[in-house]
Formats: sequence, structure tokens, C-alpha cells
Amino acid sequence: MIGRKKSVVGLDLGSSVVKAIELTMEGSEPVVTGFARAEIPPGGSVQEALQQVFGEGRFRAKRVVTGVSGQSTVVRYIPMMRMSDEELLQAIKFETDKYLPFDIHDVVMDCQALRKTIHGASQGGSNAGDGTMTVLLAACRKEELERKAQIVKRQGLMPFAIDLDLFAVANAWELCGLPMESHSDGGAPSAIALVDVGATRSSVNVLAGGESCFSREINIGGADMTQAIMRRLGVEGFEAEAIKRAADSHATEVALAIQPVLEELASELALSIDYVEHHEGVQVEETLLSGGGILAPGVPQYIEQATARPTRTWNPLEALRVDVNRVDVEELEAWAPSLVVAVGLASRVQSR
Ligand SMILES: Nc1ncnc2c1ncn2[C@@H]1O[C@H](COP(=O)(O)OP(=O)(O)OP(=O)(O)O)[C@@H](O)[C@H]1O
Ligand SMILES: [Mg+2]
Repeated sequence: MIGRKKSVVGLDLGSSVVKAIELTMEGSEPVVTGFARAEIPPGGSVQEALQQVFGEGRFRAKRVVTGVSGQSTVVRYIPMMRMSDEELLQAIKFETDKYLPFDIHDVVMDCQALRKTIHGASQGGSNAGDGTMTVLLAACRKEELERKAQIVKRQGLMPFAIDLDLFAVANAWELCGLPMESHSDGGAPSAIALVDVGATRSSVNVLAGGESCFSREINIGGADMTQAIMRRLGVEGFEAEAIKRAADSHATEVALAIQPVLEELASELALSIDYVEHHEGVQVEETLLSGGGILAPGVPQYIEQATARPTRTWNPLEALRVDVNRVDVEELEAWAPSLVVAVGLASRVQSR
């Protein structure tokens, strides 16, 4: 391996699109050296899409970091007495029954004490100096990890790590070194909400002081919008999908059809933001959107209005250099908002 560059492919096996981003360390700088995506057609398989991705993209790494999400995963924020990392590893075993809906033998789990520098004693968030801390507990069913690893191996690749999609979004944010939320004067500490709208689900991850203080998945996404268009216009799935993406044809009909879906999504997002402000004593200043689902007409505006927060789409590649000899930059830029999870997974290249 001597002389080889360190490269890792972040592989987002999404429910409707497989996306891969390769990052290579050039000195201390991660550079985008590969990109490909393939949609999974109705009736198609993830494996076929993955094959297409690695057929088209000129990736040099075989090391792949992929992610898990959905019902096989659990993330909890647990209040515990302050203790060392070693003590925590022992103590957490006695807490899992309370927090995991799975048998402990069926899952792989990890935990980490949060820094929680954000909580002043006056914020109601407790942790400063009162002898307690918040522990982030993440778990995934072994079965699901094995399934993902098999998909990767069948393509002749090496599963280097498997992360939670939820945290990949936050890692992408950190990788880009985008400006951290500043502490608002006197009031509650500032936070941002990273919202990724996929095909079958959306995720929200609230960061305060650069650390996750709340995350959650919501089972609503772009596929629900397509289905709403199918019902309203009486068309087949592929046609509804095309109508949704052709911004100007049927604009009013599309807007009317997807409105109930957006209403439900936005109301869940607003509930989440209310919850985190109440329980964590932070102020969510801004919503940052990603995922293919936000490309449907009016989605960012709708979310902005419903959550009453300044809302914008962010580009996880904004601060990254791209090797133009290996990557189709136009294609990359066009799909940038949907590549957040892939970029976050690939950010592991830094830790090797
Ligand atoms: N131009 C467009 N207009 C509207 N919607 C779009 C457009 N392009 C893609 N989409 C939608 O984006 C969704 C795919 O986004 P993304 O790649 O983020 O999902 P995914 O990661 O496969 O899904 P999930 O995260 O739920 O597993 C699909 O529902 C698709 O219809
Ligand atoms: Mg996704």
C-alpha cells in the first residue's frame, strides 16, 4: 500500500437512488476523485444499480463506507450520571433494555458522551455542573448490517465501515467546515436543523455547538409526492415521476397534489423543532435542506413557511476541491443536494 493515496467511497444505498462519492486525501485535504449515481427503476434492484454505479464511475478505492437507516436502527439521547468512557461502556449495558426495542444480542451498538457545552444552568437543559451528562446511544440490527455488507461484497468491494445515515448528514456538514451557528446574545444557544428529504423517508438532525442534540426519521418523502400525483392525475408511476420533475408542465396540478404530503412533512418538522427547543433549551435559527425530495416544486418555500425558520438548500461539496479529470462536474453539481449522505459517509477517509 506504500505510495498509494488514501481513498474511500461513500456509498449511499438509497431506496430510490444509489449514490457514490469517492474522497481521496491529498495531504490533509480531502478531494472528490469519483462520483456516480444510478436510479433504481420500478422493479429494479439495489444490486443492479450498484453495478451500474461502479461500471460508470471511475473509482480507484475498493474500500466502501455505507450507511443504515430506518426501522433497523435506533438513536437515543440518554441522561446519565457523569462518568468516564470506560465506566460508560459498562453502565450502558444496564440501560439498553429501557431504550432499545430489540434484544441486545441482535444488535451492534455504540455510545458516546456528548460534550453538551451548550447547556447553561439557566437553560433548563440541565447538564452543566449537576453531575449528569447526555449519552448518545446508536444501535442497528446485526441482520441489517450483514445485509448491507453482503450487497457491498457481492460487488467485489470491501465494507470498510457502516455508519448511520442520520449521522452522515452531520459529518458532511462538519467536513464542509461551513460556518457554525453562533451563540445568540443572552438568549438560548443557537442551533441549526439539517433536514434531508429522501424518497421514502426524511431525517432531521439538530446541531448545537457543532454537536447533535436531537435526530429523528420521518416516514415521508418524494415517493409519497409521486403517489399523490398518480392519484390526482390518474397516471402511472413513471409518468407521475416525470410530471413531478418537469418543473413547468402541470405546475398547478402538481402543487395541489403534493400539498397534503408537504403539509404532513412540514408539521412533523415543526413538531420536532418545537420539541428540541423545549427540551434542549436551544434556539433553532435555520433549516438546511438536502435530499432529492426537495427538488419538487415549492418544497423549500413550503418548509420555510411551515417551520417559520429561514430555510435554504445546502451543497455538501461547496468547500471541497473536485478532480475535474475524474469527475463530471456538471452532473455532480446538478445532484449535489442529494449527495449529502454519500459525502458524509466518505468523510471517514479523514480518520484512516
Ligand atoms: N427534479 C426533481 N423534482 C422532484 N423530485 C425529484 C427530482 N429529482 C429527484 N427527485 C426525487 O428525489 C427522490 C430521491 O432522492 P434521494 O436520492 O435523496 O432519495 P433516496 O436516498 O434514494 O431515498 P431514501 O433516503 O428515502 O432512502 C425521489 O423521490 C425522486 O422522485
Ligand atoms: Mg437518502
